[in-house]
Amino acid sequence: MKPIRSPEDLERLRKEILAKREPSKPCITVCVSTGCVAQGSIKLVEAFKAELEKQGLTDRVEVKETGCVGFCEQGPRVTIYPQEIYYFKVKPEDVPEIVSKTVLKNEIVERLLYKDPITGKTAQILEEIPFYKYQLRLLLENNAKINPKNIEDYIAIGGYSALAKALFKMTPEQIIEEVKKSNLRGRGGGGFPTGIKWETTRNAPGEPKYVIVNCDQGDPGAFMDRTVMEGNPHSVLEGLIIGAYAIGAHRGFVYVREEYPIAAENISIAIEQAEEYGLLGGNILGSGFSFNVEVYRGAGAFVSGESSALMTAIEGKVGEPRPKYIHTAVKGLWDKPSCLNNTKTWATIPLIILKGAEWFRNIGTKGSSGTMIFSLVGKVNNTGLVEVPMGITLRDLIFKIGGGIRGGKKFKAVQTGGPSGGFIPEQYLDTPVDFDELTKLGSMMGSGGMIVMDEDACMVDMARYFIDFLLDESCGKCVPCREGLRAMSKILNDICEGKGKDGDIEKIEDLAEVMKEASLCALGRTAVNPVLTSLKYFRNEWEEHIKEKKCQAKACKALINYYIDPEKCQACMLCLRECPAGAVIGGKDQVHWIDQKKCVKCGTCYELCRFGAVVKLTGEPIPPPPMGVKPIRKKK
Ligand code: SF4
Ligand code: SF4
Ligand code: FES
Repeated sequence: MKPIRSPEDLERLRKEILAKREPSKPCITVCVSTGCVAQGSIKLVEAFKAELEKQGLTDRVEVKETGCVGFCEQGPRVTIYPQEIYYFKVKPEDVPEIVSKTVLKNEIVERLLYKDPITGKTAQILEEIPFYKYQLRLLLENNAKINPKNIEDYIAIGGYSALAKALFKMTPEQIIEEVKKSNLRGRGGGGFPTGIKWETTRNAPGEPKYVIVNCDQGDPGAFMDRTVMEGNPHSVLEGLIIGAYAIGAHRGFVYVREEYPIAAENISIAIEQAEEYGLLGGNILGSGFSFNVEVYRGAGAFVSGESSALMTAIEGKVGEPRPKYIHTAVKGLWDKPSCLNNTKTWATIPLIILKGAEWFRNIGTKGSSGTMIFSLVGKVNNTGLVEVPMGITLRDLIFKIGGGIRGGKKFKAVQTGGPSGGFIPEQYLDTPVDFDELTKLGSMMGSGGMIVMDEDACMVDMARYFIDFLLDESCGKCVPCREGLRAMSKILNDICEGKGKDGDIEKIEDLAEVMKEASLCALGRTAVNPVLTSLKYFRNEWEEHIKEKKCQAKACKALINYYIDPEKCQACMLCLRECPAGAVIGGKDQVHWIDQKKCVKCGTCYELCRFGAVVKLTGEPIPPPPMGVKPIRKKK
């Protein structure tokens, strides 16, 4: 491939690529992003190729490996073009039928369509599925269409035309102005205005300047950055090159965590291809601007997602945060001006350059423009990645897109913003989701994690869980975070184990105050959010744990006892046979009871009993065992 040396050459190439393609040619796209690969999609690709060969169709039908569309729990996902029919949970044994029916005869294989569990209605296209109906997919839109390892696929859909426009029709200052006008805020967590960060880096004294992509999302259950990087790496790269030109950087880094091998592979291939096509390296598109990018594999520490820690890691040192008396935009990598943005932020830039700041500002809310990708997980019926305009309410996200709470249970809280986000209770479900509204509730947007909890969640235990996670992930460099988290964890574990004391809540509040004020980095400063929101909205649960040794959600093992209701026990002997501790006492025709001294609270009897006779008791005395043999009523 000869490097492209002008915008006109790029347009010519695009036309050539499109001319070679037949839009009516059948194409089977298979998701080969992490979620679907884990569910066997590589075997599916092989099965499609083998079947096409067997039927002599290799030249007539294309098989394309593509990225994730977000509904990964329904994977592996297959889409048949040109009809754009979506099949989910596809297995290699379904392949011959898909080829013979859908590809050759345009017939639908009904059982592979998405079926709404409530209405029973099937859907052929994404927009008919409730999970997608309310989404606005700007960044994820092309993931099902392009092969992320093929730059020509990206060029065919208009890729790199934003770069050509930026390099040839805009000055660096105009680009920064456009980004400022768009009101794009950093998608990594802080929500800092991107244009201002770029301007600060550009105007900061010192050369060279650096630009960095943060693809180190370590929140449990969150995989938005990985998905964008795996499915459309050229969009990130294009945004990065535009940013580099605007800021005046000639060297950039893509920091990808080690646990994201497909993302690292796809961005590495994208960089190689962009270099080959003259879109990276010296004299990009003949503009005179030169820029090179390297991929840096992070070792997978949660704290390395923090900007100064990430930069320290790129410098080859231990990835720990450092004081930011001076912003990294002024003194970052090797003490030079460095602009670090999240993967999604960079991927949004080409859209803003092509469609304009005005278009972008019209999506979302006044303070938070555009769309946001959330990782909706937990106790909702539909889990996965959702891209929605900012300002959508939590209720719509959870009930319309997420399909409501699993098993018809009651909603209790949602944690937004990852492990350091706060818990938001039911009375705030109509809050529009944007950076500022979530902060007002004591939570945050973070990188877009969203964990939904139902009535079975104990909010003290949830706070304990996240504090323990953050304690594990704290780098330990500064005392407030290291010791504060350790002390909080001890108190919280004690409370959940029934050893809570008067004064514990006040101690936790004092610790939180210090951690918020004095921690070196955002990990320590925001770690208190789950605890403080749990206290703010669910204080009664804390008091019950401490004073009454009661866990109303019956989740804290130490605070519950299993008990067999003699009125309900049918003496089926199932629990007696299955109890691993030999704690169930009973016999044929005898009401069973649990020897509390032997019971290890494993819950097996509770799960197994078909008569609902085993119950959990909390904060109340356990009735004494029934005396003697009792007759068993027959079930009607
Ligand atoms: S706040 Fe925690 S993670 Fe951050 S520097 Fe301090 S010890 Fe390290
Ligand atoms: S909770 Fe577990 S140990 Fe206790 S009685 Fe039931 S099965 Fe046995
Ligand atoms: S990984 Fe395939 S749909 Fe998400």
